[in-house]
Amino acid sequence: MDSKSLTMSHVATIVILGLLFLQAAECRVENSKDAVTYSAINCRKHSALLTDFGAVGDGKTLNTKAFKDAVDKLSQYASDGGAQLIVPPGNWLTGSFNLTSHFTLFLHKDAVILGSQDESEWPLLPALPSYGQGREAPGGRLSSLIFGTNLTDVVITGNNGTIDGQGAPWWDKFKKGLLKVTRPYLVDIMYSNQIQISNLTFRNSPSWHIHPIYSSNITIQGLTILAPVTVPNTDGIDPDSCSQTRIEDCYIVSGDDCIAVKSGWDQHGIKFRMPTKHLVIRRLTCISPKSATVALGSEMSGGIRDVRVEDVTAINTESSIRVKTSVGRGAYVKDIYVRRLTLNTMKFVFWMTGAYGSHPGEGFDPKALPVIQNINYREVVAENVTMPAQLDGIASDPFKGICISNVSISLTEKPKKLLWNCTDVEGVTSNVTPKACDSLPEQQKPIDCAFPEDKLAIEGVKLTTCSA
Ligand SMILES: *[C@@H]1O[C@H](CO)[C@@H](O)[C@H](O)[C@H]1NC(C)=O
Ligand SMILES: *[C@@H]1O[C@H](CO)[C@@H](O)[C@H](O)[C@H]1NC(C)=O
Ligand SMILES: *[C@@H]1O[C@H](CO)[C@@H](O)[C@H](O)[C@H]1NC(C)=O
Ligand SMILES: *[C@@H]1O[C@H](CO)[C@@H](O)[C@H](O)[C@H]1NC(C)=O
Ligand SMILES: *[C@@H]1O[C@H](CO)[C@@H](O)[C@H](O)[C@H]1NC(C)=O
Ligand SMILES: *[C@@H]1O[C@H](CO)[C@@H](O)[C@H](O)[C@H]1NC(C)=O
Ligand SMILES: *[C@@H]1O[C@H](CO)[C@@H](O)[C@H](O)[C@H]1NC(C)=O
Ligand SMILES: *[C@@H]1O[C@H](CO)[C@@H](O)[C@H](O)[C@H]1NC(C)=O
Repeated sequence: MDSKSLTMSHVATIVILGLLFLQAAECRVENSKDAVTYSAINCRKHSALLTDFGAVGDGKTLNTKAFKDAVDKLSQYASDGGAQLIVPPGNWLTGSFNLTSHFTLFLHKDAVILGSQDESEWPLLPALPSYGQGREAPGGRLSSLIFGTNLTDVVITGNNGTIDGQGAPWWDKFKKGLLKVTRPYLVDIMYSNQIQISNLTFRNSPSWHIHPIYSSNITIQGLTILAPVTVPNTDGIDPDSCSQTRIEDCYIVSGDDCIAVKSGWDQHGIKFRMPTKHLVIRRLTCISPKSATVALGSEMSGGIRDVRVEDVTAINTESSIRVKTSVGRGAYVKDIYVRRLTLNTMKFVFWMTGAYGSHPGEGFDPKALPVIQNINYREVVAENVTMPAQLDGIASDPFKGICISNVSISLTEKPKKLLWNCTDVEGVTSNVTPKACDSLPEQQKPIDCAFPEDKLAIEGVKLTTCSA
């Protein structure tokens, strides 16, 4: 080998190595661009694409079978590291489908799951035991778009992909009284634990959007929930007979309550006895001109206790944290802690109602009185308010232990004459303007209303980084 050919072969080697290197580098760049990461309670060993099951993302083809086949197939991996189903970019029309355990449904940022407007695509389910009958009609209820029961370790997430219920025909039929059954929700998860729903946009549910029930250990983060403010019962999130639930960083625009905390209905809920407890709601932004930022009730017959709400902004919303109950509900709403609310344009800042009505038929017990006790609000700034407080307890059953401190409310141009209207309520205020009613006397010595210092177990749940 002469020196010249040596040089040539060196050059060739360098060129080839260089090309290989460039290719490898390009490959890495490609990978890092394609590799989508997300945070979840658990990552999965197995992965599949919705298109592996024949799905077509044209917005017209019905993919109910593809979702069902995918979940059936992936459920085989529940005891072998679990599985994730990736929904790629596209418009995926589907009817109701069921989830499985140790499973992640991951939506690409340009993936849109569209709810079918064909009622036969939503199977009829029996009424919830704590409600005794369908909430809207005695004839049971339709399965939610995404349904799960008796599951462990379920994640529904994405890079802000969308789940759109296309609810308009349902709203119309409901308004005209044409439905014989209760409208479906978008997500309904029952008798389950270790649930995560995060980083998605939900819109236009036929009725409520997210409904975990009889479940625990639930993390809900980073949801955008959007429904027209004029349509009925499109609640954002309804934790119902759930414990250890964390709802954070959500933005909700709705025709009903942004969040409604529930636990069953009159005699059925009293019998079922499953409270909602240990719930934290933080960094919520709400727009709900016809309803509450956070409602407690009206279905609360299994009890509601230890609810912590903080760092909430509400704009053009009827009220802030509202207690809704009624004779016949029984149980309790107690140990409620609220702090740091920023409110703009609101009918009532504080609102409690002991005569909400709405019963499952005639069988409710008129002696079943709810106990409303230890309700704390502090650090509230509200502007453009029509009436600071409308607080109505129950005559033989006053609402007790209401504490309101460090509140500054400025009024609209045309406020109500009576600013605080209090009936059958007892409690205290401190550093509140305008001055409260006589049944909530100003304390001589300033106080801060209670807010717990400890953390709930659900706040300690850590997420890990997974890739899709
Ligand atoms: C949601 O997205 C945000 C911003 O991209 C990210 O910081 C956060 O970790 C994500 N959370 C979850 C639970 O995926
Ligand atoms: C989902 O599971 C429930 C309860 O097991 C069942 O009644 C329902 O028909 C299932 N839904 C679908 C779409 O398969
Ligand atoms: C789900 O769990 C509930 C409560 O433990 C039980 O009553 C019900 O039978 C279970 N359903 C199924 C389908 O396993
Ligand atoms: C998610 O999408 C919604 C609707 O398009 C948008 O309003 C919101 O800002 C997005 N959120 C994030 C974190 O990108
Ligand atoms: C709650 O869920 C997390 C995440 O899946 C899990 O690590 C933890 O053990 C669960 N806690 C309980 C009490 O089930
Ligand atoms: C104040 O509230 C009224 C309704 O009471 C509303 O019409 C008006 O737009 C609000 N003004 C501002 C500046 O938000
Ligand atoms: C509430 O107001 C009182 C009196 O102005 C003040 O001493 C206290 O620090 C305030 N508390 C909070 C939590 O802001
Ligand atoms: C005050 O509240 C009571 C009980 O709801 C109601 O009957 C009354 O009309 C209210 N008064 C005013 C001036 O709004």
